Formats: sequence, C-alpha cells, structure tokens
Amino acid sequence: MNTASYHPVTAEIAAELRNVVGDRYVVYGDPERLEPFGHDEIAGPEYAHMPEALVRPKSAAEIARILKLANRERVPVTPRGAGSGLSGGAVPVHGGIVLCLDRMNRIIEIDPDNLTITVQPGVVTNEINERLKEYDLFYAGYPMSLETCFIGGNVAENAGGGKAVKYGVTGRYVTGLEVVTPIGETVRLGGKRVKDVTGYNLIQLMVGSEGTLGVFTEITLRLRPRPKASADLLCLFPTTEVAIGAVPRIMTGTGVVPTAIEFMDRTSMQAACEYLNESIPYREAGAMLLITVDGPDREAVERGYDRIGEACLEQGALEVYVADNATTSERIWKVRRSIAEAFKLVSPHQSLEDIVVPIAAIPEMAAGIEALAEEYGIAIPCYGHAGDGNLHATPVKAPEWSLEEWHERLPQLLTDLYRLAASLGGTISGEHGIGHKRKSFMPLVLAPAALDMMRAIKRALDPNGILNPGKIMDG
Ligand code: LAC
Ligand code: ZN
Repeated sequence: MNTASYHPVTAEIAAELRNVVGDRYVVYGDPERLEPFGHDEIAGPEYAHMPEALVRPKSAAEIARILKLANRERVPVTPRGAGSGLSGGAVPVHGGIVLCLDRMNRIIEIDPDNLTITVQPGVVTNEINERLKEYDLFYAGYPMSLETCFIGGNVAENAGGGKAVKYGVTGRYVTGLEVVTPIGETVRLGGKRVKDVTGYNLIQLMVGSEGTLGVFTEITLRLRPRPKASADLLCLFPTTEVAIGAVPRIMTGTGVVPTAIEFMDRTSMQAACEYLNESIPYREAGAMLLITVDGPDREAVERGYDRIGEACLEQGALEVYVADNATTSERIWKVRRSIAEAFKLVSPHQSLEDIVVPIAAIPEMAAGIEALAEEYGIAIPCYGHAGDGNLHATPVKAPEWSLEEWHERLPQLLTDLYRLAASLGGTISGEHGIGHKRKSFMPLVLAPAALDMMRAIKRALDPNGILNPGKIMDG
C-alpha cells in the first residue's frame, strides 16, 4: 500500500479512539505533544515522521478495538514501546496512529516452579531481573538500553545485546505470547512449555517481526537459575586488528564459553568515558575487549577468566585487568552501554550500523571497515558484540563534507559495507532490525523468493496493510 491508500485520522476517529481508551489517553491535533512519538533513537531528522494521533491503551481488548477501527477506516497503526529502537520500527512513516504500550507495564506472574515470568509489553527490561532477584532466577536478555527499553520492543526486534554469546538472543526465551493480530483478533500462542511442535512456529514468526504482524499484549519468558558468580576482564590491545583477531581464538581455543565479548575501539571508549565523566585505564590502547565470565561458583569463574586472560595475552593484549566486584563491573559496563548515546551527541550526522558475520570472519570484517573508512576519507568508529560477530560500525560525516554530500555518498558507502558483510556470510542487521532505515538494502542479502515469502506472510495476516506499514520491505 502507498500513503495514498490510507485515510487520515479525522476528528470523528479521534473521538472514537477516546471512547475506547478514555480522553486522557489520546493525543490529537497537538503537534508539540505528538513530536516525541515521531522518532526513535536513530540520529537524523530524515528518519522521523509525525503521527496524527497517539493512543495509549491499557488492555488487549482496547487494542483489538483500535485495530478493528483502523481496518474499517484504513488508518495506519504503528506500535511503540519505549522508542529506544535504532531502525525506525516505531516511527509512523505513513502518519496515522501511534499505539504506545507504556501503560501496559505489569508483571503478571512469576512462576518459579516452571521457570517462567509473564509480563505485559511495557515493562522496562531491567525491572524483570530486579524483580527476579528474590527468587534467585534471572532472565538472560541484556540489551544495551536495558534501563529504558521495554520487553515488548525487545521481542518485536528480537534484541540481542551483551550476553548473547553464552545465552543467545531474546527469541530463545519467548515461550508464550498473547498477540492482537493486525485484523484485531486476540490469540494466545505457546505457553510455558519447553517443547512445542504443534504446527508452524508462530511465536518465532512474531519474534523480530518489528511490529508488523501483531501487537504483543502478554509475553511469557523462560528463566534460568541466577549464576552465583561472575567477573569481567578488561583487555587492552594495541589496535583493533589485534583485539578483533583474538576473538575467534577466545571462542574456540579456551574451552570456555564467555557470557560476553564486547569490543570497543579507542574512539568509542573515549566518547563514552567523556560523556559519563568516567575514567577507564585505557592509556595507550587502541582497542579493548570487555569479556564477562559467569558460572556456578567463584572457582569456576576464576578458572574461566584465567584461561581467557592468558589467551588474550598470547594474542597480543597489552594488559588484562580483572573486575570481580559488582561496582567495578557495573562502571565498565555502563561505559560500554553508553557508547551509542555518547556518539549521537559527538557526531549527530552518522549512521549506526549493525552488521553481523560468522565469528571466524570478524577479523576480515573489521579490516574491511578500516579499508572503507580510508577509501571514503571518513571516520568509521566501531564497537559491538564481537563474540557474536556483530559490529556497530558507525560511519560519521567528515567535517569537510557538506550535509548534501553526506546524504549523497552514504547509500553507496552502506552498500559497500553490506556487500562486504554478505560476501563473508554475514548480513545487514544482527539486532537492531530493518525498519525503514535499511529496507531498501534488503535485496543485497535476501533472494527475491525469500522477500516474496515475507510479503506473502504480511499480506495474509494484514490484508489492509494497516499495521506498521513501510517497514522491512515494500508491499
Ligand atoms: C549497543 C547498541 C547500539 O550495542 O546496540 O550499544
Ligand atoms: Zn548492540
């Protein structure tokens, strides 16, 4: 569908929306209050688009009524969590209604006997583990925005984050969903079962669907016993090449599965340290790995980090520091988690990328990124989840380039970057998603037949194309 096929949100429709959720929870005709809902965390006003109305429902029943109304009136609806996304998933590119899930923020049930928690989508991800502490359980998802993002958004984007090396990404933990479909039907998928092969795996179709196939209203997550001990290694390397070169060796040659292997180049850590007014001992280091090991007891963790530390030194680390208390660990991780935010302030004209390659190919990928930076004559600082092969290369506008030149040349630079990732068996997004930011690049990594399958699924579930249109691919 193109914009011409959609209808505007009229005053009558706004009145009907008020009827559904209550006067206080609809914003209409008030650009100042609507503006924050026209963008996510991508830098760059060109990715923003104003909604015509904001609606903040409290229940699945209200969402079902809103979606039925939207189908009847042919008005686009864009679901939104905390707005911390990085590919425009929550941006209403065709206007219409933004459906914000912030009022649906209850933890519905903690079930220690079944190792599950059931939550509403607007729960802040960090709150899940705060609440689970008393049960000695934990949820393994760890997106970098965990203090602000919502679990619903994590499921919609299949968020990865800092612990995926050992624990995998969000989808691994989703066993049950209540979903309002694009046509306004409420369905329950899965439950608390560990195994389930009853037909197509609709849960994992919903996971990562970027708000285009349904609105989640309840999410059941699998939990794990909380690891009793953990420690972080801060490994300083002379260059990116040496640091990244050590990653495959750590993964395959130590016999230890680390919880995290995060990479930061010098520019990234400096930016985040300055932003937080924090000091990390990076001195002459050109790059750094932050490696976490967790386990059932201190001894196991010590054995693990000893081996990894040795491997890093063998591979050319300048220094290895151990952080084995929670305060120091949190200080370092806070620096790591703040890089994206820090960069946005330092370099507002940038493109935060999310390429992912098989782990053995990261040295080649990192070298390719440096070569591209040189070829284009711009800085491409880089950080990310090296243990997953997932690098947030961030091309930044060269000071001498005009904004026009930046916008003209960026698509070619991204094409080169994505082609390189694809040639190494990688792809264009590991965890941030496609949204509208990357959709024009999908044919670089997906065959026409695969894109057609995606379109067919979208059409089958959303015949009027009202749910989050303009994302992932054009219809
Ligand atoms: C991070 C976000 C940008 O890894 O994904 O910091
Ligand atoms: Zn990331």
